[in-house]
Amino acid sequence: MKKLQYSITVALLSLAFVKLNAEPLRIDINVKKPGSEIKKTMYGIFFEDINFGADGGLYAEKIKNRSFEFPQNLLGWTTFGKLEVCTVGAPFPNNPHYVRLIDPGHKEKRTGLDNEGFFGVSVETDAEYRFSVWARATEGASSIRVELVDEINKIIVAKKIDITSNEWQKYTIILKSLHTEYKAKLRIFLDGKQSVDLDHISMFPVDTWKGRENGLRKDLAQALFDLKPGVFRFPGGCIVEGTDLDTRYNWKNSVGPVENRKLNENRWNYSFRDRFFPDYFQTYGLGFYEFFQLSEDIGAEPLPVVSVGLSCQFQNACCDAHVSVSQLDSYVQDALDLIEFANGDITTKWGKLRTEMGHPAPFNLKLLAVGNEQWGTEYVERLAVFMKILSEKHPEIKIVGSAGPYPDGESFNFLWPEMKKLKVDLVDEHYYRPEDWFLKNANRYDLYDRKGPAVFAGEYACHAKNRKNNFQSALAEAAFMTGLERNADIVQMCTYAPLFAHVQGWQWRPDMIWFDNLKSVRSANYYVQQLYSNYVGTHVLRTECNKQPLSGQDGLFASSVLDKNAKAVYLKIANTSEQEKKVNVFFNGQKPQLRQVHSVTLHSDNKDVENTLQMPFAILPVVSDFKLNGNELTLTVPAKCFQVFDIR
Ligand code: AHR
Repeated sequence: MKKLQYSITVALLSLAFVKLNAEPLRIDINVKKPGSEIKKTMYGIFFEDINFGADGGLYAEKIKNRSFEFPQNLLGWTTFGKLEVCTVGAPFPNNPHYVRLIDPGHKEKRTGLDNEGFFGVSVETDAEYRFSVWARATEGASSIRVELVDEINKIIVAKKIDITSNEWQKYTIILKSLHTEYKAKLRIFLDGKQSVDLDHISMFPVDTWKGRENGLRKDLAQALFDLKPGVFRFPGGCIVEGTDLDTRYNWKNSVGPVENRKLNENRWNYSFRDRFFPDYFQTYGLGFYEFFQLSEDIGAEPLPVVSVGLSCQFQNACCDAHVSVSQLDSYVQDALDLIEFANGDITTKWGKLRTEMGHPAPFNLKLLAVGNEQWGTEYVERLAVFMKILSEKHPEIKIVGSAGPYPDGESFNFLWPEMKKLKVDLVDEHYYRPEDWFLKNANRYDLYDRKGPAVFAGEYACHAKNRKNNFQSALAEAAFMTGLERNADIVQMCTYAPLFAHVQGWQWRPDMIWFDNLKSVRSANYYVQQLYSNYVGTHVLRTECNKQPLSGQDGLFASSVLDKNAKAVYLKIANTSEQEKKVNVFFNGQKPQLRQVHSVTLHSDNKDVENTLQMPFAILPVVSDFKLNGNELTLTVPAKCFQVFDIR
């Protein structure tokens, strides 16, 4: 009998639950009283040369070790015949090696060299490639033959270049490929009797982003442009710090004529034993000028990061690896000179260089980060030196300090109060965390101290199962970001990380955009970022459920913003649960009226699904348009789904 009573009670309770569950959830949006202003910098991108993101990636150069400056000078090259590596009379003092091609001494023998490119020299049918080389003929006249050959050594295209002087000169030809090859090689033969010296051997697609000769890969730059990012943080990441101070990112080496930019090691070459890339270097062909230019192209505020005088603290437990506090002058000067390079006029040393490089107008730099993921007193005491000088000389520049590598714990708790004392403008928080953390932390900023500094979520990504860019991770990020948006008064910028990864050359994942030598794919995480940045709005709107932010109740997360310019409300809802949810959204404080609604939905029943080069459209935003008459929007939000509504 008792058992029967129990079963009836359970059945009734379940019914009640089903009924309750079927009741639509009410979301109230206060449209009448817009809240805090949302900064234009709110959603941005963070670029670092990791995963072959620059050389072999965004930077469209096809030739590896083009200046023969890798420590093994011929790495990336296969040579044949009589060839020497020389330095005497080199044309570019910062890159002092070049090769000499000498007559092999027999008419049936050959001298020359092949370049393997980055995971192959890849070319496409009918595409044109600009080959260039600095050359001199030791006796004043000779020639070389330049070929693209496929994997089985068949010639795709070949051209002869006459070397007409014993002075160094740049020679350029256009090579047109007849077919698509992923793993072609560039081959150069000595074609005359006299020796020829060659340096800075380069090949770019003619069709780069904006057609620039020292250009960027078009598909990858376009993917950045399509994000409409508000801020662009560069050049890293750990590469700012270097494995040691010698290999830190030195921006001054990354500007001026591209042939003379001093090569640097890439700190990600040996970082992981199973992702070992000893041939990973930074040519700086994509340097600070190009970073500023790209910021301008994509409409984002540039945010350079400079070294604070600490080499990577993960890799250098001992303080001998760092610059002492009393010796920071040249580091501070680098920061001051960078501001001059970006903003100074033509009468200044660095403003003049920017002008000579082709950009007389200032880049209008307003933000500067000092240090990447630093921690401890060693950071605070160094940053203090920078703060004192920068705030005196450049009060117009906002300074970003670091909260260390983790979003909580000892270093985080130590650094925040220190950042307040130092009066930095923004504190850079990083979180690479599992799904659970992202869902629980969607309300992280609701109770943050409003007195400042503001927050810059400078590196984050949900690390889901196997650290893949699956839909699960993207959905968790979408849910979490409702909390960033709701707190846009204090969280003024955020940037997902890392941005790019070569499928054959990655060290770290997940990453927002994957690519091989010819194609690229936008991950589900990319689309989440894009939905936030394309629907950024101008003011936060209170978006509540039972007078509380909707931040995880029943697996739902929501935020909304007003776009004063477009006269639109953008509502974002993430349903992380396994059930579809009925939701009624009320626009309070406005007369009932006819509204046009454009919705974008990112959804999959399979949390493991991911976009790959083979299946680039496994998960894509789906749009639909409808009309709404009145102030109540009735929705059924599918399970495992992120939706954005643009309501006008
Ligand atoms: O984004 C990859 C790395 O993660 C960054 O270089 C560093 O800042 C962080 O540890």
